Amino acid sequence: NEKVPFKPRYEVPDVLIKEPVCLSCLHLGTNFQSLTVLQKDADKLVLTCADEDQQLHVTANPFQIQFVCKGEIVWSTNSNGLLYFEHLQPAPQSRKSTSQEEKEGSANSSKQENQDDLGLWEEKFGKFSDIKANGPSSIGLDFSLHGFEHVYGIPQHAETLLLKNTSDGDVYRLYNLDVFGYKVHSKMGIYGAVPLLLAHKPGRTAGIFWLNSSETLVEIATKAAMEVLSSRTPETSKQRVLPQTDVRWMSESGIIDTFILMGPQPFDIFKQYAELTGTQALPPLFSLGYHQCRWNYEDEDDVEGVDAGFDMHDIPYDVIWLDIEHTDGKRYFTWNKEKFGNPERMQKQILMKKKRKLVVILDPHIKVDPLYTIYSQAKERGYFVKDRKGKDFEGICWPGLSSYLDFTNPEVREWYADQFAFSAYKGSSEILFAWNDMNEPSVFRGVELTMQKDAVHYGKWEHREVHNLYGFYQQMATAEGLIRRSGGLERPFVLTRSFFAGSQKYGAVWTGDNKAKWQYLKISVPMLLTISMAGISFCGADVGGFIGNPEPELLVRWYQAGALQPFFRGHANMNTKRREPWLFGEENTRIIRNAIKERYSLLPYLYALFYRAHKVAEPVMRPVWVEFPKELETFGIEDEYMLGNALLVYPVTEPKVTAVNVFLPGPQEIWYDFRKFIRLEGHGTVKIPVTLNSIPVMQRGGTVIPLKTSVGKSTELMVDVPYELRVALDTKESAVGELYLDDGHSFQYLHEKKFLLRKFTFHKNVFSSRCADENGQFHTKCVVEQILILGIKKQPSSVTASIHDGKDQAVAFTYDAKISVLTLQKLSLNVGIDWVLHIK
Ligand code: NOJ
Repeated sequence: NEKVPFKPRYEVPDVLIKEPVCLSCLHLGTNFQSLTVLQKDADKLVLTCADEDQQLHVTANPFQIQFVCKGEIVWSTNSNGLLYFEHLQPAPQSRKSTSQEEKEGSANSSKQENQDDLGLWEEKFGKFSDIKANGPSSIGLDFSLHGFEHVYGIPQHAETLLLKNTSDGDVYRLYNLDVFGYKVHSKMGIYGAVPLLLAHKPGRTAGIFWLNSSETLVEIATKAAMEVLSSRTPETSKQRVLPQTDVRWMSESGIIDTFILMGPQPFDIFKQYAELTGTQALPPLFSLGYHQCRWNYEDEDDVEGVDAGFDMHDIPYDVIWLDIEHTDGKRYFTWNKEKFGNPERMQKQILMKKKRKLVVILDPHIKVDPLYTIYSQAKERGYFVKDRKGKDFEGICWPGLSSYLDFTNPEVREWYADQFAFSAYKGSSEILFAWNDMNEPSVFRGVELTMQKDAVHYGKWEHREVHNLYGFYQQMATAEGLIRRSGGLERPFVLTRSFFAGSQKYGAVWTGDNKAKWQYLKISVPMLLTISMAGISFCGADVGGFIGNPEPELLVRWYQAGALQPFFRGHANMNTKRREPWLFGEENTRIIRNAIKERYSLLPYLYALFYRAHKVAEPVMRPVWVEFPKELETFGIEDEYMLGNALLVYPVTEPKVTAVNVFLPGPQEIWYDFRKFIRLEGHGTVKIPVTLNSIPVMQRGGTVIPLKTSVGKSTELMVDVPYELRVALDTKESAVGELYLDDGHSFQYLHEKKFLLRKFTFHKNVFSSRCADENGQFHTKCVVEQILILGIKKQPSSVTASIHDGKDQAVAFTYDAKISVLTLQKLSLNVGIDWVLHIK
């Protein structure tokens, strides 16, 4: 920060889940390693923690910090001298030259001298002008990542997984904007922003978290750098050329608040980042099912018809969504009386019966209408964002003239959360959940379709300071509202379009208005991987593409991809043709049905992955390199990905494809075709034939995947369906896996420890199920009915099951020698208790 700022500078609140331990506090505690001073000269300080191999070299002139590990520089900051800080200044009318300023000088002194009115700090953008009351206030800093040439992160951009060099001036922009049909391969800012960058090289992953919510630009420059390896005599010093990536962060305002995540492994980075910003909220199980959305499902009959269509075509789904037209003139928390005259009946009679849910849209803009209670209350209480003159900010959005709730104000968030009470939100029920859209915020006819930067929020902070946080706060308030209406018992589900670091704590995000074109399907993979690495596991893209009409083949391929991605929702723009999954002929319906059903059978695996994301910050969907961090060939892979550590997925993203080149990582790994169970030959790039029927999915040897043996109409109707375990053996003929179970909807897993975490282990022909967390208890009648063991070399003579407290029992089995698969059938092993199977 500035030593003595003219007025306080914005420091991002509410994103860090706890105050990180800072060095100056170290002497107070005894639990952590303190830094010791190894060397102290007038100009240089060398600090180290217990491990002297890790050192911080701080030089004063020029100011620089280097992190040195075993004699090698890993990263350094300000090595390019790009640290800068524009000091706030008094507004021109009141401006007097103070002695302090004269002493310190200012970055903008020449600008100031020539100015004599407010125009001094006025910036034009088209017809808009932005007045910076206290002058330009930007900040910036550079980092050099030594030995790194692969960098990732800083979502959201419709760009490649690997960040690109920006030396052409086309820099990454983090500025949340509503961009309808955003361009593919562009570094422009779209709906969400997470200022977290990851760098990876074999043996080390590092991260930089730049905690700033104002408009931010990031420059990336990878180059070959000469490094001198010093030794005792200069003659023996060696030089070598190493890659180096320079990253420069620039923010419009705020302070420099940055965190270096030390890794050294990719999963360490995810944990370290979660220590700061929190982990993924554990979603209610239903929200991992399929979501059917459209702008708009017209009326209650339409909802009823679509709902019945799913049953008629034997396609499971969990949630139907209502877009803005369901409201009374885009007044959120209301219903269009003609079209949705009896929303209670619709929820109770149609949806609840099949344990399905409803999601409705709630945007942050509020129609200017004194007769609309939400508006009049918020107006009276001063809950809207203000313009620079102190009046309620008014802009155009769906309802016409609107004001914008100031979610940065905790009192507004409280009040907003209360609007979800069943007594306040007429026609809502416990199966109604929420969708926050247009919360960048989107302001039609506004500058870049958003709010002016000099609008004023709670605490007199200008919009420029909080811009990227606005959607984060709306989702926070919405999630709180859903929790509150349930008396604190139920887990919420909230989808948001705009997001920031930490949004994972409040629900899911999606990639906004994509197009029904192949290249948008393709780019959705690196986009979702990047969002996932930035802590937000619960993410998805509109299946089918929001804008335009997908050709049937594209729609099918999109369903197949979406079914194996974290958030799975079909959505379509208004004026597009209807596209419920059964409208494209029997054959396509069958293929889509299979994809959705496969998703439903995989729910136990997915739920366990979400539990890990929630507990230990492991991304559900992850780039291949994260699982294979030593394998250089994986570092740039973005056409395939890992779903958890067990499944490798290759979505087909081009038309009329008959074969794809899949990279099978890990020379030591065995990969099995997930549907045919056969072992795939070779590793590295292999050509796999494909038909329209499915996309390649491979199970990794060494893993156990829990599945459901059959699927029902919705997730909740599948609670008692038995499990199948898919055991894929590795080269050591071993495998491990997990199953997580709780009631699927409440907070009892947390507050009352009502959950089960089971660990399955296959080793030396013994397969066991045991408790992996003694703290949890959950009663279930559910059993494991079938176990498939892939890669077992010879036919066993007998299989017996020893069940905790019971007698040994013989198990029926079949063995397919051609594909080396052992199937254990007709089991009835309760998933909640310990058991062991002996294969002899
Ligand atoms: C924009 C959103 O991105 C889209 O999903 C939604 O359907 C429309 N707004 C209408 O609410």
